Amino acid sequence: ASPLITLNNGEKIPAVGLGTWQSKPNEVSNAVKEALLKGYRHIDCAWAYGNEKEVGEGLRASGVPRSEVYITSKLWGTYHRRVEECLDQTLANLGTDYLDLYLIHWPVAMNPAGNHPVFPTRANGNRDIDETRELKDTWKDMEAMVKKGKVRSIGASNFSQMMLEKVLPTAEIVPAVNQLELHLYNPQLALLAYLKAKTIVPQAYSPLGSTDSPLLADEAAGVLARRHGLQTADVLLGYLLAKDVVVLPKSVTPARIASNFTGALAALQKLTPADVALLDGVAAGGKQKRLIMPPWGIDLGFDNWPAK
Ligand code: A2P
Repeated sequence: ASPLITLNNGEKIPAVGLGTWQSKPNEVSNAVKEALLKGYRHIDCAWAYGNEKEVGEGLRASGVPRSEVYITSKLWGTYHRRVEECLDQTLANLGTDYLDLYLIHWPVAMNPAGNHPVFPTRANGNRDIDETRELKDTWKDMEAMVKKGKVRSIGASNFSQMMLEKVLPTAEIVPAVNQLELHLYNPQLALLAYLKAKTIVPQAYSPLGSTDSPLLADEAAGVLARRHGLQTADVLLGYLLAKDVVVLPKSVTPARIASNFTGALAALQKLTPADVALLDGVAAGGKQKRLIMPPWGIDLGFDNWPAK
């Protein structure tokens, strides 16, 4: 079983979860079912991934009771003024009446009638920011969902320190987590230290470096993998677990789904503090690379994010 991490509200979250971004609807049901049969008890979803219905189907096909699975989803930007509407769609899609965790997907409110039902890309541009919607007000509406019993915990995603500071002064509920692009080449060590001080648990999306990952061929991770009898992917995941980061590796391939789970836990056992320190130095040693940078057109307050 996956180790559990205790959140700042006392709830417990499994440290390894299945990512579902870029999992095609016709693949994700099977991926979720496989994951649950292989011991995962945590599935990371989002309204914007466009595959929540199929995630729900996989959940039911697995036979694992809803109450034993930790389910996260995320509020899309066009819904910052309609939090409950987006949440209700997600609950209906998944076929459940509550979420374990609900996140603000990006700290960017978008025009509700705008042209952004999906991630902004260089092609579809980004001229539809809702500049008058403040994050602290969206957070109030997130808090209301906890009070209503529709979600157990709430959190942030893709929030820099600058963005968290827009929410924390007036928050009644401190975000339980902040889900970020975290991996060997983008460890965001300063932000991790800030989150620790604020009792916010970091979660890693794209912990393996996403599609066509450069990380799987990393020399330092490869050396440690061979030394400990692990795969490089295991080292990449175990490195983050050792830093108390929740990892959300995405795969639709049954063998990888299984090995990511067992391998991550094996790596957590085997990596020494010296190994972790060595891996901490890889990005700073010249490999720093942020992989996921939607062109929001506003300053998100992150290091290593190009101005435009
Ligand atoms: P696939 O889903 O086809 O198995 P991340 O979690 O960093 O976003 O990485 C996801 C990407 O890495 C996907 O392309 C996924 O492919 C691939 N992947 C997942 N697990 C492994 C693994 N153990 N070894 C190699 N590639 C993997």
